[in-house]
Amino acid sequence: MKYQYESQRVAYPFFIAAMLLFVGQIVFGLIVGAQYLWPDLLFPAVPFNIARMIHINLLVVWLIFGFMGSAYYLLPEEVEGEVYSVKLALVQFWLFLVGGATAIAGYLFRWHDGREFLEQPFMIKVAIVIVVLMFIFNMIMTMIKGRRRTSISIVLLIGFLGLAVFYLFAFYKPANMTVDKFYWWWVVHLWVEGVWELIMAAFLSFLLLKLTGIDREVAEKWLYVIVGLTFFTGIIGTGHHYYWIGTPAFWQTWGAWFSAIEVAPFAAMVAFSFKMVGKRARNHPNRAAALWTVGAAVLSFLGAGVWGFMHTLPQINYYTHGTQITASHGHLAFFGAYAVIVLAMASYAVPNIRKIGPTHQKAEIFAFWTMAVSMALITLSLTGAGIVQVYLQRILGMSYMDTQSHMTLFYGLRLIFGVTFTVGLVVYLYDFFFPNRAGAALIED
Ligand code: HEM
Ligand code: HEM
Ligand SMILES: [Fe+2]
Repeated sequence: MKYQYESQRVAYPFFIAAMLLFVGQIVFGLIVGAQYLWPDLLFPAVPFNIARMIHINLLVVWLIFGFMGSAYYLLPEEVEGEVYSVKLALVQFWLFLVGGATAIAGYLFRWHDGREFLEQPFMIKVAIVIVVLMFIFNMIMTMIKGRRRTSISIVLLIGFLGLAVFYLFAFYKPANMTVDKFYWWWVVHLWVEGVWELIMAAFLSFLLLKLTGIDREVAEKWLYVIVGLTFFTGIIGTGHHYYWIGTPAFWQTWGAWFSAIEVAPFAAMVAFSFKMVGKRARNHPNRAAALWTVGAAVLSFLGAGVWGFMHTLPQINYYTHGTQITASHGHLAFFGAYAVIVLAMASYAVPNIRKIGPTHQKAEIFAFWTMAVSMALITLSLTGAGIVQVYLQRILGMSYMDTQSHMTLFYGLRLIFGVTFTVGLVVYLYDFFFPNRAGAALIED
């Protein structure tokens, strides 16, 4: 099926920008990964802290581009009406692109301000808020003008409203380090283990509906369960970051219990996907999009659910806090949940926008497995590094730098799997930018 609403096309530039920025993220990922082995690489032009900042900021920016593009594609079909203002969407697109690019380029010239993930200079932060407000206004107006409002569209709206509201804590920079960290997590944790999860659940439901042909009522029931579990566990679950930063001791109990059950919404997404695919009413020709969709549920369950649970209890986190165990979880969780759901939406939506059949399925399926397996191996390498680090540094009391010298094997492996990840990405992007125009025909036989 091709797109039904002309204004859905406005999603296209958002997806293109997302892909280009994704490339940038990975280039800088390879640079920081290489700097772990050759610390002088690119010094002093691009030191580690700056390259790392660019790696993780590009990640967040491309994901938000992907979220916005996905929302512009999804909304018209969900609410049965065109996007309220395509012009506003395009203005908002360019403002975000210029703002985002300025921020990233600025980092290279040491123009940054703030804490990890929130290093954007004040003016850029203001621009980001304006862009997001323009987007949310467009979204609300589209929903008001549309013929209906579905649960998927409402959950998506709540997700974006939350994204905007919690970002405001990026402006609050108290001098006291405990208070500072306390609110920093209101952006970082309440995003990825709260409102972004709603955005993901909305996209997942939309994709499963389109790809399996199952009744909307079934999907909606699952969506309510996932949203309920997310709020119930994720909000108080913030306590798993309040064990050792000078916050009251009761957080060790509350954080442990609630974050332990944060696995539940991710498990529910896996059950939801398998149920829907198992009972599918038809086989959608875009099998790759279905693979990315189920992949998001499974990989986020592994990265966020399993790798998150692994270090979320204070008895364990006491040893693992801030080690490579944290980085291993951060990678599989961010990739499995948010990168993969955006790639799933792109795989489904972009061929429709181009009015051609699904893209080259073999290439896309190869890209999925290459990227997923590489990221799993990056995660395992970092887990290995983390185990060595915890033992030598936290249990035997070896110094930080001495410990690092015993971890180079794992850093080498991380870089190798970073390269294989890049191969998968190149295949995905080749298919994205040079689609197989005979794709539809290819699928039919
Ligand atoms: C898709 C969802 C998730 C994403 C994207 C994510 C990402 C991250 C990232 C990037 C960090 C490192 C932050 C930093 O210090 O710079 C982190 C820390 C942490 N995450 Fe997650 N996470 C997710 C879900 C979860 C879940 C469900 C749990 C628990 C079951 C969890 C448990 C933790 C814990 C305990 C830490 C702190 C580690 C430490 O003490 O160093 N995460 N997460
Ligand atoms: C080519 C593949 C990649 C390589 C070599 C790589 C390498 C790195 C390195 C060296 C760091 C700094 C870790 C530290 O400070 O100790 C880092 C941080 C990070 N990267 Fe990657 N990365 C890659 C791909 C990705 C992807 C695909 C994602 C997510 C979609 C991602 C998300 C993150 C996050 C969230 C952090 C911050 C982690 C934390 O604070 O614990 N990276 N990466
Ligand atoms: Fe968290």
